[in-house]
Amino acid sequence: MTTIRAVHARSLADPEAFWAEQAERIDWETRCERVLDYSRPPFARWFVGGRTNLCHNAVDRHLATRADQAALVWTSTEVDRQRSISYRELHGEVNRMAAILREFGVRKGDRVLIYMPMIPEAVFAMLACTRIGAIHSVVFGGFASISLAARLDDARPRVVISADAGSRAGKVVAYKPLLDEALARATHRPERVLLVDRGLAPVAMVPGRDEDYAGWRERVGAAAVPCEWLESNEPSYVLYTSGTTGKPKGVQRDTGGYAVALATSMELIFGAHAGDTMFTTSDIGWVVGHSYIVYGPLLAGMTTVMYEGTPVRPDGGILWRLAEQHRVNVMFSAPTAIRVLKKQDPAWLTRYDLSSLRTLFLAGEPLDEPTASWIQQGIGKPVVDNYWQTETGWPVIALQPGIERLPPKLGSPGVPVYGYDVRIVDERTGADCAAGQKGVVAIEGPLPPGCMSTVWGDDSRFVRTYWSNFPDRQRYSTFDWGVRDEDGYLFILGRTDDVINVAGHRLGTREIEESLASHPAVAEVAVVGVADALKGQVALAVCILRDAQLAGTDAAHRALEGELMRIVESQLGAVARPSRIVFVPALPKTRSGKLLRRAIQAIAEGRETGDLTTIEDPSTLDHLRQALGVAEAVPAASGAG
Ligand code: PRX
Repeated sequence: MTTIRAVHARSLADPEAFWAEQAERIDWETRCERVLDYSRPPFARWFVGGRTNLCHNAVDRHLATRADQAALVWTSTEVDRQRSISYRELHGEVNRMAAILREFGVRKGDRVLIYMPMIPEAVFAMLACTRIGAIHSVVFGGFASISLAARLDDARPRVVISADAGSRAGKVVAYKPLLDEALARATHRPERVLLVDRGLAPVAMVPGRDEDYAGWRERVGAAAVPCEWLESNEPSYVLYTSGTTGKPKGVQRDTGGYAVALATSMELIFGAHAGDTMFTTSDIGWVVGHSYIVYGPLLAGMTTVMYEGTPVRPDGGILWRLAEQHRVNVMFSAPTAIRVLKKQDPAWLTRYDLSSLRTLFLAGEPLDEPTASWIQQGIGKPVVDNYWQTETGWPVIALQPGIERLPPKLGSPGVPVYGYDVRIVDERTGADCAAGQKGVVAIEGPLPPGCMSTVWGDDSRFVRTYWSNFPDRQRYSTFDWGVRDEDGYLFILGRTDDVINVAGHRLGTREIEESLASHPAVAEVAVVGVADALKGQVALAVCILRDAQLAGTDAAHRALEGELMRIVESQLGAVARPSRIVFVPALPKTRSGKLLRRAIQAIAEGRETGDLTTIEDPSTLDHLRQALGVAEAVPAASGAG
């Protein structure tokens, strides 16, 4: 029996041989001439000259062996509906959607922006794009007009696909007005907007631009649209993610490398095979949804369960009831969902027959020890934490039960995954850290197949942002702190930059700051992530007002706080709304004018601020404590107990 360590060592010692072997997992129209071209680091090109298609591999390829097997099982507790779609039916729907896009003039390389709730048509749309070589850019439905407009202007899609509405916790969320607002704001004008009408909210159609999906679906009939064979390095999609600037980065993904990486991960990491059923509770707007609701399970010939709803409606047993009902073998969720369940009756964990379930995977944010042990004991199944990013597309650090069952260590996502040369490096010098020494989690190039190829439309930003953080050495920075223990297990200790993680959703503090600063009363604002027992982190905004009198009374204060929260909600979406906004006369800064974010964070979390010898005005800290209603943290007595 092989070991995780041996597979990892082999993947790094001879990456070309390792990945050539994995490439056999998918169909190629033309085989590659070269497995890896790393002649222009840090740009890695995998399976050069190979021609393939993601949709062919996710759908068409399975028709010969599993046409009648369910490919997609959709459940909505929001609208109380279920739909099971076989591979044959999926093929039909994807062809129809592809035919509609073709009618709209969409060609290879064109972008299609998908702004949709969790409905099967969203999956048809993604697969239809990759079928014809169009590049999809899915924007999370929880984002509002400004976020959407920024993505429209950057991706410049020919077509937008959307719907009348989504539904969240029983409340209809109209998408079309948000989309119209974004389109009015954006300078780029897509030619067509294709709308799926679920009958949830009224839709005002713009003649000449807006098109009705149901009508077009009838019109194109049982269409057959051939797959467009793409060179392995041609882009499949762009997915935007937050960084330290207000402008989101378009993570560009290739085609062949992504297909190979996902197919390999299904077996080696998830221990899953054709015919198995996977239930991933994410959203198609996030990378976990792209890789493990849509492409991963379908590439492997599995059944994927797509869920529109929350973990607690109609009750705290819904996730496990779905797992029983669909005989789920592999589940993938986020620590926040489990922390939400911890507030429910624990009896839900044992009420359903989970005998089909082998493993529960959790990712997206730190998995705290109490939550990990609570759920592991509660459902009596192995829980596998895994660490990765939108940029990597698939897990970087994980226990890999598909290879070997290594004992988990609570608080650690495990060990480096094959293909990734993960290092813990000194923040300043980039030199490797010893075991036990905290450093930045970095990856030695080339990144393995499936990772981001570049920033959409901006190669230099890719190099500058990710590969220029350490002197003398080009290494990919994850922007996470980490530490390795003596056994080689890695622990993730939070972000090194201003990115925050709220309930598993990655958000840039800069975008929230820009939104708050658009209010005329706000002179300056800092947003930081503050530890939260349920959501991992929440956003705290600290504002300076132009007229200090404005927030003079408690009532005025609360009114302004509400107004500012509504601004963020309407511009960026409810996910980005700060949990709290406080007003201070001045922000803590260094003498050179640099904002002391970590000091704000420490005070809000009731911790010591540490050494602040460079602070310009120490009284700003007292003002902040006063505004937050917290006392000064008492230094811990060293050497005690
Ligand atoms: O800070 C790390 C955290 O989430 C970031 C990536 O978020 P996103 O791009 O949305 O991709 C999520 C893919 C699962 C990372 O830089 N993060 C993700 N997984 C973990 C984690 N932090 C601790 N433990 C994890 N398992």
